[in-house]
This record gives sequence, C-alpha cells and structure tokens, in this order.
Amino acid sequence: MIEVTETAPVGSTIASVTRASEPFRIPSARYISTEWAELESDRLWPHVWQMAGTVDHVAEPGDWFEYQVGWLSVVVVRGDDGALRAFQNVCRHRGNSLVCGEGRSMSELRCGYHRWCWDLQGTLKEVPSRRGFGAFRNDELPLIPVQVGTWGPFVFVNLDLGAEPLDAFLEGVPTDAPWLGLADFHCTYDVAIPMPCNWKTLIDGFSETYHVQGLHREMLPMTDDVNSPQRLWGRHGKLEQPYGVASPRLRDGASDQEIFDAFVAVMGTRIGKPTTEPAGPVPAIGVDATLRDVLADGVRATAAHVGVDLADLATDQLMNMQQYNLFPNTTIVAFPDLLQVVKSRPGPTPDECFMDMLVFERRGPGTSRTPPTRVTVEPGAIDFGMVINQDIDALGRIQRGLHQPGFTELMLSGEECRIVNLHRNLEHYLGITPSEIRGG
Ligand code: FES
Ligand SMILES: [Fe+2]
Repeated sequence: MIEVTETAPVGSTIASVTRASEPFRIPSARYISTEWAELESDRLWPHVWQMAGTVDHVAEPGDWFEYQVGWLSVVVVRGDDGALRAFQNVCRHRGNSLVCGEGRSMSELRCGYHRWCWDLQGTLKEVPSRRGFGAFRNDELPLIPVQVGTWGPFVFVNLDLGAEPLDAFLEGVPTDAPWLGLADFHCTYDVAIPMPCNWKTLIDGFSETYHVQGLHREMLPMTDDVNSPQRLWGRHGKLEQPYGVASPRLRDGASDQEIFDAFVAVMGTRIGKPTTEPAGPVPAIGVDATLRDVLADGVRATAAHVGVDLADLATDQLMNMQQYNLFPNTTIVAFPDLLQVVKSRPGPTPDECFMDMLVFERRGPGTSRTPPTRVTVEPGAIDFGMVINQDIDALGRIQRGLHQPGFTELMLSGEECRIVNLHRNLEHYLGITPSEIRGG
C-alpha cells in the first residue's frame, strides 16, 4: 500500500504520497516487448483520451491538423460554424489518408486519390463518376467521427465513441489550480522528436523528480526536490515543487548567490535574464522578504512587460512548479507565467517513440491566436534548455539498460508513485488481471 499523508505544503493543500511499505516491482518486458506494445495498440490508444494539440492549432474556421499515434490518424478541424470536430483520417472509398500535416482555410475534405469529398461536418457531398457504384446514399458514408474536447488551451481526442466524456476522464485536474490561468497561454511551437526509447521510458522521466539529484545536479541549489508533495487522482497525478530554494540533499545548503545563479541557469528568462549568461549579483532582498519573494517580483515584472498581470499572485503560487501527469502519456509543467507540455507517442517498435514538446507563451486575455510552428527534428537539433536537453540525452541509455537479460523488473519507490499509477491504469485498459505489479 502507498501511504498517503495529508500535508500543508506551500501553495496549496495536496496529499503527499511518498512512502511504500516495500518497493513496487514492475516487469521490464512492458518496455521492450512487441506483445506488450501490440496490446497497447489494440486496447489503449484507440480507447483513451489523449492530447492531440491546442486551440491555437485550430484557431480559425478552416484550420486543421493531423494527429498520429501509432497507426492511428485523426484529423481535427474547425468548421465554418466555429465548432471543433475530429474524424478518423481515412477516405471511405478505398482507405486513403485524407490529409497529412496541418493547414489553414480548408473548405472541404477531398481525398487526393479519386477525389471523393466531404464537408467540414463530415457529410459526403461528392463522388466522381458516381453511377458506376450503383445505388447508395451520401448519408451512409459520413467521415468516421472521433470524440474531441478541450480543457484550457489543450485539444483532446478519443477514437472510442463509447468512452466517457473528456470532463469525466480528466477527474479533478482542471479545477485544481484555476489561478494558473492556463486558458491565457498560446502554443508557439509543437516540436516532435523521434527518440530511441519506449514511450513509457520517456514519460516516466517526466513523472518523478527523484532523478534531479542524478541527471540534473545543477538544479539542486534552486529546488527542493525532497519536500515536494504529490497527489494522485484515479488516473492522473500531480507534483508541487518549490523553486528558488536549495535542496535538502545539499548537506551544506546553498548561499543566496548559489541559489540565484542556479535559478538563472535553469529558468532565468522568467526574470528577464538569459540562461546562458552569468546571473550577476543577487538583487537586494528587503527586510521581511526572502530570495523567493525577490524572484517572484522578477517574474511579475517580466510578465507585466507582455501585458500579463500577476500582481495578485503570492510568492508560493509563482515559485512552486505545478506538474500534472495526465494518463497515459502527457506531462504539463505549469507556473502562472510558464507552460510546457511533454507528450510521448509510440513509435514503430517498442524501442522507439516520438517526444512532443509543446511550448507556450502567456499573453493578455483576448489576444488573437495563430497556429504554432510545427516541426519534426532529430534529438539535439533544438536547444530546449539545460534540463530538458539532459533528459533527452539520457533516454537511449535507459532503453538499452532495460534490454539486459539480467534485468527483469523495475523497482520503484513510493516517491515514484505516478509511474506506479500509470502501470495500474495500463493494466486496467489492457485487461491484465490479477495485477502483475508486486509490492507496495
Ligand atoms: S481512396 Fe479516397 S477517393 Fe479513392
Ligand atoms: Fe529530468
């Protein structure tokens, strides 16, 4: 059993889930076997809600984009009536993919193979040389609908028309922190990166911060990676982690200058400083104030420059990272002035996946939206900052380790409860009973 303790952490009241009475053990085959990947492609991906993109991808009528996950492909389009719709990306004549990529100003969905054509509501309206087919009605062959829904700037799809509505799937997550102002964020980049690892290897690395002490040691002076309460809903999870304060793992602590230097190196742009240049001296800290207060002031000032008013938010709200893990494959890293999404999608083999990095900017309320730049690049081609670069660099080594014949199971701590929860929910979707997860 995971021990759940109520705590009163800075910023919000959430449960801390940190201790297990014995380690959780999970079969490593889940990360490398073809059979397991096939189970996921049959029973998970066609039935689960997943973030496909953002409202920026489909800002105006006629805007559309394709979302691929494994062999599945969905087209999301905003209709002339302003409504968002999604369809399986397949022509009902002989199965050609209707679209590829993304675009704007689309007025119809016309197949490029033999030119069958549907309107943006999915109604068949034209079949060339129709008499050769004999009798059939247009309303027999609409595009195959896909469920679509939004939360804040995020667009989700689910190919299973019998699946529960998005609101129910998201549990209490959307109402957890309305002060984050997620709806005011605009997606500017949607970058896909093919990665040499299983999709779970990737998302696991964004579901715990136990690895900060190993992979991101430069962060230790600027974050408390120990007193970081976590919360589990049924499917989803959350971590709240204070920034601008030293990790208790540093036996001698850290000076304000060391904290400031590390903060600037990791996320200096939040206070208007380039991450690649020396931080300079610590700003003056007033009486009754802390360095976190000073950093929070810097965040407020930087936001104000782009018309975002964060004056009413407390230091804790500005300086604690809110990390949401949405089952199965999405991590949302949020502050009121900073939002990034990392998603993983399965690749052609269990040892490959796509990492999606969605980068956002907060803008003033009511600012108009335009589609983000959407590209696919090789690992290392784009600098995502020190921390994400380190994560990307590590993933191939982890996947290779998982293949070693002497390694048969992962051993997880209660601190890694969001990974355990991913596996519990995977077992539910895949119909694995009794549970193969040992311990806990
Ligand atoms: S496959 Fe689309 S029109 Fe023939
Ligand atoms: Fe990391």
